[in-house]
Amino acid sequence: MELLKQRIREEGIVLNNRVLKVDGFLNHQIDPQLFKSIGKEIADRYRDAGVQRIVTIEASGIALALMAALELDVPLVFARKKKSILMVDDVYHSVVYSYTKENYDITISKKFLPAGEKVLIIDDFLASGEAAMGLAKLVKDAGDEVVGMAIAIEKSFQPGRERLENAGFRVESLVRIKEFKDNKCVFIED
Ligand code: G4P
Repeated sequence: MELLKQRIREEGIVLNNRVLKVDGFLNHQIDPQLFKSIGKEIADRYRDAGVQRIVTIEASGIALALMAALELDVPLVFARKKKSILMVDDVYHSVVYSYTKENYDITISKKFLPAGEKVLIIDDFLASGEAAMGLAKLVKDAGDEVVGMAIAIEKSFQPGRERLENAGFRVESLVRIKEFKDNKCVFIED
């Protein structure tokens, strides 16, 4: 997606050899017009997939997923990150391994994940794929089908995409970063 690449070129900051900072338009301050375009792009890629519900994870996934949910006219539910690892009866839960922070629990209330639906998973970054795998587990536990995953920014030099594809998921990333070079992003061209 050219528009997103352009914003990353203009405003993205390569913090180190692993992390791209985009908090001027995506992770902290949000550009609504850019997000509207992102929502449309995601919706266009999945328009024929019969999506009935979108699932994402707090916090940064929510705004992106909302724009796609508006376009596809489907409900959106986001997984909450919980500190407790106690099982609670009325939620689906999964543990996400974090390379940068502590492992955390994610939960979705069972009443917002009815069985038998086709679900699209959305997130802002794809790095290790841990968060997406955790979301997919929740969706499958609910008896739903994951029709695919949509990611705004994929760091293709990290193992997330390969992991998700090996698990059988369709992965659509709007921007794919091949590497960081001289503090800039080198993109995989579409
Ligand atoms: P994963 O989601 O692919 O498993 O990756 P990882 O465990 O490495 O990511 C942990 C958190 O860091 C996630 O956000 C993820 O979106 C974010 N992240 C990963 N790589 C980058 C990057 O290069 N730049 C930025 N800005 N974020 C990155 P989170 O902790 O859940 O944060 P939030 O959604 O609450 O904002």
